[in-house]
Amino acid sequence: MIIKSAEFLCSNTRTDKLPPPNLPEYAFIGRSNVGKSSLINALTNKKNLAKTSQTPGKTQLINHFLINNTWYLVDLPGYGYAKTSRTNRAAWEKFIRRYLRARENLQCIFVLVDSRHEPQKLDLEFCTWLGENGIPFLLVFTKADKQSTLKSTQNIEKFKKALLNWFEEVPPVFLTSSETQEGCEELLKEIQHINQG
Ligand code: GTP
Ligand code: MG
Repeated sequence: MIIKSAEFLCSNTRTDKLPPPNLPEYAFIGRSNVGKSSLINALTNKKNLAKTSQTPGKTQLINHFLINNTWYLVDLPGYGYAKTSRTNRAAWEKFIRRYLRARENLQCIFVLVDSRHEPQKLDLEFCTWLGENGIPFLLVFTKADKQSTLKSTQNIEKFKKALLNWFEEVPPVFLTSSETQEGCEELLKEIQHINQG
């Protein structure tokens, strides 16, 4: 898919203020600092479309971007940010989980996982919650440029194996880098495929 246009639409803290659910929607989720906002910029070829930061906890709202005037890409706040208060974390949980469960035009959630790490409990638990709620998702491993492909592949295989404790089969998996744009074309192809039903 060629990205002809990508524009920021709105930021929300309330699920009742979101844009009308009249276009297919894809949301990026994952730990704080995993690279959600950076990957949105890499996919759309726009450096500053989504705000990124070295400090975890940058994205705090549900951010909607309109792509090619035909679908929404959504940047979400990350989970697992250690410095967040318990109250904040509980609020995140409630608000994001409500959005994920209720948003009728969500086609697929992209769960981003840092390819440098061994499977983390938090990511696995989040995937199982999606499974339990019947929310379709796929896995996007980030920051591939930071280590050898062999290391990334080993971590991906371990993650898949861990998921098989809960799932009969694992969802599609992508290895990406926002630095080199590795995997971006494949991800866009997948979105196009889903859009075309
Ligand atoms: P929150 O909004 O805080 O949840 O974080 P996020 O998941 O949106 O992460 P963000 O895109 O802001 O990136 C966090 C840091 O990781 C930034 O310093 C990015 O430059 C860096 N980063 C993200 N993706 C990549 C990547 O593919 N390769 C490299 N080398 N660095 C990356
Ligand atoms: Mg972000």
